[in-house]
Amino acid sequence: MPLSRRALGPLLLAPVTARAQSFTPASAPNQPLTQIAQSRGFTYGCAVTARLLADEPEFAALVAQEAGLVVPEYEAKFDTLQPEQGRFDTAPLDALLRWAEHFRKPVRGHALVWHNALPAWVAPAVTESPARAQAVMEAHFDHVLAHTSARIRDWDVVNEPIANPPGSDVPEPAGNSGDLRDSPWLRGLGPDYVATALRAARQRDRTLRLTLNDYGVEADSPSAEEKRRRLLRLLRSLRDRNVPLDAVGIQGHLQMREAFSPAIFRAFVQDIRALGLQVLITELDVREVRPPVGDFVARDAAVARRVHEFASAAFEGGARTLLTWGISDRWSWLHREQTVALDPGDVHRGLPYDWELNRKQMWRALARAFLGQSAG
Ligand code: G3I
Repeated sequence: MPLSRRALGPLLLAPVTARAQSFTPASAPNQPLTQIAQSRGFTYGCAVTARLLADEPEFAALVAQEAGLVVPEYEAKFDTLQPEQGRFDTAPLDALLRWAEHFRKPVRGHALVWHNALPAWVAPAVTESPARAQAVMEAHFDHVLAHTSARIRDWDVVNEPIANPPGSDVPEPAGNSGDLRDSPWLRGLGPDYVATALRAARQRDRTLRLTLNDYGVEADSPSAEEKRRRLLRLLRSLRDRNVPLDAVGIQGHLQMREAFSPAIFRAFVQDIRALGLQVLITELDVREVRPPVGDFVARDAAVARRVHEFASAAFEGGARTLLTWGISDRWSWLHREQTVALDPGDVHRGLPYDWELNRKQMWRALARAFLGQSAG
């Protein structure tokens, strides 16, 4: 049961670093994750929001200490950046970019083309005609890529294009055919919308790293296996047509109710690398079963085991960058999003720091995976 903020009062006065050190699990160097990662050529980062960076000094301190890279949780999405056609609002993103510049943290862009986080005006516009869809996409890219070109050198150009197979959490609506998920962009431009977006980004910024980002490809399950097959088919098709693409983001929203096979996942990462693409883990967090099993110690140990085997398999497969989707359970989307949240009074223990901002066994698991060490 997370303490109320009132009960946390005395704790809140202690500097985060001191409290974190007092809880640093044994057998892991007491250094920030970013330093541990960099010591072996990896990058560790996390998702942030401009509001938390501005209003929660403990959050900002943790990110400044632990992360070597940040990604906006929603400030770089279509609905925030262009709420009305032709009216751009970069203020939230600019505030985040200023913070990141001050702390010398590179920023990933997330996400230019997605079926979600679209303002109401986009779907009718892009489904009106292919020409209108292309014009909407290109106008967005013109403004956003020019505005961010000095600060963001890596974008999730297309987010979650692959259709969820039967058996997935969110299976495709009946009647959807093919490998691609239903989306206004698919309806407006056809299956080539992915290539169109990637080409449009490359035309506007030759040195931008273009990333295609997706989820649901991590588990040892029939639906994840089918989604891996669909993603690989798309990647091979893009390569065969010389469509520009530099990297694949595997989100890594792990679920403890799903089986995981390090060998299967490592082979999948290797298959992507064999196409000449970089691989990033872009949104790692862990959703526990509902209700969770055991006390905090047991829950944290189970999460840590899964995180260690997942991250180790990713790195063995060739991934060099890993971001968690947040840094503390207290501010996780897993706690805010009612469709996945636990019962009131409990939170998923799926990030490196707990509600009270203490390092958890997951933090140690990531540290040891970065160091190439066993779970220990
Ligand atoms: O900031 C506004 C606030 O002013 C307003 O009062 C409030 C009213 O609902 O909305 C606030 O914006 C919300 C935003 O999160 C900030 O909390 C949006 O409604 C809400 O839709 C948005 O949710 C984000 C979601 O993506 C959709 O963009 C989550 O924070 C974010 O964690 C989630 O992240 C996604 C990745 O982009 C893709 N992979 C899955 C991941 C988890 O769903």
